[in-house]
Amino acid sequence: MTVSVTWLGHSAFHLKIGDHDVLIDPYLSENPLAPVSADEVAASFILLSHGHGDHVGDTIDIARRTGAMVVANNEIATWCRDKHGIQHVHTLNTGGGVELPFGRVELTIAHHSSQLPDGTYGGQPNGILIVTGEGKTIYHAGDTTVFQEMELIGRRGVDLAMLPIGDYYTMGIDGSLQAIALLKPKVVIPMHYNTFDAIAQDVVTWAQRVHNETDAQPVVLDPGGTHTLS
Ligand code: NI
Ligand code: MN
Repeated sequence: MTVSVTWLGHSAFHLKIGDHDVLIDPYLSENPLAPVSADEVAASFILLSHGHGDHVGDTIDIARRTGAMVVANNEIATWCRDKHGIQHVHTLNTGGGVELPFGRVELTIAHHSSQLPDGTYGGQPNGILIVTGEGKTIYHAGDTTVFQEMELIGRRGVDLAMLPIGDYYTMGIDGSLQAIALLKPKVVIPMHYNTFDAIAQDVVTWAQRVHNETDAQPVVLDPGGTHTLS
């Protein structure tokens, strides 16, 4: 199964894993950088890191239109099912995972906060770890600071990490460099920057520092740009 990773701006990604369309944190209709609309994007699975509006985004509309399965923590997945009638959900919690047709999805820790757009408690925020059927390991950190346990995630052998670099709400560039040192990913894609003024970052400087200071390959995508895992 080929894995291609398309950045939809902010922390939103469209992973094509074999024939499966896997969205992460599909924040599209209010995302000024989104290259696709929520009405058009293909989805068979939607993975959510936490409850904030810039991550839950258009999940409800997309899941209703496509019938996609929503995978999130218990509080968020239950909210999707019981408040919004989304039929297909997995109600995971931190450290747990589920086998899906494209591979295994696990929720990791993240240090942040989580409240759903209507004020409902969103449980603990998470990162998302995907191990594809062919063994590619992909880590989407969600919104978080750097934390020492990233070293444990790194021992899994991370092929691709998506890390926030925007500062203000999450780790910034310095934090992402520390995270890369712990995770030791082969490839790292930055996210959660330049969507709003508060999280504006110089991504060229980031990429230069990753190149100079770590063994990871920085891959900076434009919104709509795709990286294919080899
Ligand atoms: Ni957040
Ligand atoms: Mn966020």
